[in-house]
Amino acid sequence: MKIGVVGSGGIGGTIGTLWAKAGHEVFFSSRNPEKLTDLVATAGANARAGTIAEAAAFADVIFLAVYYWTTDEAIAACGNIDGKILIDATNPYLLENGKPQRVPDISAALELAAKVPQVHVVKAYNTLPTATFANEAHRRDPYALFYCGDDTAAKATVAQLIMDSGFTGVDIGDLIQVIHQEPGGVLYNHPMSVAEAQKLVPSLV
Ligand SMILES: NC(=O)c1ccc[n+]([C@@H]2O[C@H](COP(=O)([O-])OP(=O)(O)OC[C@H]3O[C@@H](n4cnc5c(N)ncnc54)[C@H](OP(=O)(O)O)[C@@H]3O)[C@@H](O)[C@H]2O)c1
Repeated sequence: MKIGVVGSGGIGGTIGTLWAKAGHEVFFSSRNPEKLTDLVATAGANARAGTIAEAAAFADVIFLAVYYWTTDEAIAACGNIDGKILIDATNPYLLENGKPQRVPDISAALELAAKVPQVHVVKAYNTLPTATFANEAHRRDPYALFYCGDDTAAKATVAQLIMDSGFTGVDIGDLIQVIHQEPGGVLYNHPMSVAEAQKLVPSLV
C-alpha cells in the first residue's frame, strides 16, 4: 500500500515506521522535509520524505496526524485528495494558555468528513498514546484498536493496516459512532484486549 503521512511527529512517525517495517511504501511529509532524515533512516528502505503535497499525491491512503487546530491548513496543503482513504488520528484539543484543552461537543472526524465529502475518512489510531504504539505493537495478545467510518472498502483497508502495524482493529460502525472514540468517549485512552473490546462495543449506542 502507498501511504502518505501528513504530520510526521510522534504519532505519524511511529505508525509510519510500523507500516514501513511491515512492507508498505511510506512517504513521510513535513513543512520542512529536511528535518525527517533521521526518521526515514529509522523506518528503513520503504520510507522516504518530502512535502505534504508530494506525500498526498503519492498516497492511496493518507494518515493525518497533525494538531486539530492545524487540520485545515494541512488538508489544504495536500491538494486534491478526492477518492483517497484518509485515516484521521487527530484529537480535538486547542491550546489555551499553552496547555491543550479538549474542545467539548465536537468531533474532529465528523468536522473533517463534512469538509472533504469525496474523501473516505476512517477514524483510527487516536485512542492510544504514542508510547503504547511504539512499545506494544505485535504483542502476543494484541491490543484492540478502534476504528469507524462510512465506507466499507476503506474500513477493510484500514483494518488490514491496523493488523500490519501490530494491533487488532475493532470496527465500531459508521463515522457517527466516533463520539465513543474521541476524547470524552469510553473507548478513548483505554488500552484493552480484543476480547474486552468486543464485549464493550455492542453496548455502544
Ligand atoms: N501524542 C499522542 O499520544 C497522540 C495519540 C493519538 C493521537 N494523537 C493526535 O495526533 C495528532 C499529532 O499529535 P503528535 O503527538 O504526533 O504531535 P507532534 O509530535 O507534535 O506532531 C505534530 C505534527 O504536526 C505537524 N504540523 C504542525 N503544524 C502543522 C501545519 N500547520 N500544517 C501541517 N502540519 C503541521 C508537524 O509537522 P511539521 O512541523 O514537520 O510540518 C508535526 O510533525 C494530534 O491531533 C493528537 O491529538 C496524539
